[in-house]
Amino acid sequence: MLKISSLKKLVTDSMAIDLGTANTIIAVKGRGVVVDEPSLVAINEMSEEIVAFGQEAADMSGREGRDVVVRAPLIGGVVGDFERTKKMLAHFVKKAKTGGSNISLQAVMSMVSDVTHVEQRALLNAAEDSGIGKVYMMEEGLAAAFGAGVLPNDKRGSAIVDIGAGTTNIAIIAKGAIVHSTSERYGSNEINAVLATHLRRHRGLQVGIETTEFLKTSFASAFLPEEISKTIAVRGRDVQTGSPSAVDITSGEVYPIVESIVRRIAQTVKDTLTELRPEVAADIYDRGVILTGGGALLDGIDKYMRNFINLPVTVSEEPRYATVMGLVKMFDDTKLLEKVSRNELGVLQNAEIPFEA
Ligand SMILES: Nc1ncnc2c1ncn2[C@@H]1O[C@H](COP(=O)(O)OP(=O)(O)OP(=O)(O)O)[C@@H](O)[C@H]1O
Ligand SMILES: [Mg+2]
Repeated sequence: MLKISSLKKLVTDSMAIDLGTANTIIAVKGRGVVVDEPSLVAINEMSEEIVAFGQEAADMSGREGRDVVVRAPLIGGVVGDFERTKKMLAHFVKKAKTGGSNISLQAVMSMVSDVTHVEQRALLNAAEDSGIGKVYMMEEGLAAAFGAGVLPNDKRGSAIVDIGAGTTNIAIIAKGAIVHSTSERYGSNEINAVLATHLRRHRGLQVGIETTEFLKTSFASAFLPEEISKTIAVRGRDVQTGSPSAVDITSGEVYPIVESIVRRIAQTVKDTLTELRPEVAADIYDRGVILTGGGALLDGIDKYMRNFINLPVTVSEEPRYATVMGLVKMFDDTKLLEKVSRNELGVLQNAEIPFEA
């Protein structure tokens, strides 16, 4: 016969949640990544009700009907719209559950290191209200490091740079703890913003997010392209006439726009590396920097960073999943999970795992 404790384990999903500005990624222990969707909701403006979440909402974006608007409830890695973040999280958690409503949950969730008390509380509340029994919160930088293969018992320092959509998070890890960190509230989405501004101001073309995303992921690169006259047609709306329109742009035109943001990110990394203690600096000198997050997928960003900081730079395996992979690893080592979790004392840490009726 099964003991109560093992029975509890059987019906408990252990969930890792990376609630990002651009994407919500959920992995379940033993099942891998089960949710990978844009952090978006579509709202009916008349009734204020949410009509779609995630990918379904993204598919409406830019072409929504007259009464529908698509919104990102998280801004710069934090909860901008609490009610809608909560509903979105609940939707994704439900989707990630192993079926059946009597499955209880424990979850570990990431947060940026400079998160304020109020923001942390908002995230915890959102998770609690999604029907998760026990929630641990952990710093994103540490999760990304573990996900990128840094070992918790490694005495020497490692540097992780997570380039997300709305944040750039630099964490220096040693012995399974953060010894230094910097978090900036700008990330890869800044590239979309400057591309859109350039097209509007200099080429008279208004473009949507889909267009800048395509330009960034399929055409742009972080180093000067060999063939600067390579062109691509960009479509949108003429600023003057309002009519549907298109312009051709070259890779030589796109490069300096993208480079301005990559340089800013690289400068933040460089500045952070000057603030380290000598021993840690020596470790980083030998080991260099690991890039994680979706922004690390920009063509040539590792090469650019290598030249800029004069140190080895590598991109982690599956950089978009580094944080969630680090989070899910915590369920293999509960002692470590207790050590690294940053919950407000006693509030949720010791809560019993409740069973839903
Ligand atoms: N192939 C690619 N080339 C360039 N950029 C990419 C590529 N794929 C994804 N990105 C960018 O990565 C970003 C999303 O990364 P990620 O999913 O790590 O962000 P997030 O975790 O949601 O954000 P944050 O950590 O800031 O809250 C987006 O800005 C996206 O445009
Ligand atoms: Mg992220």
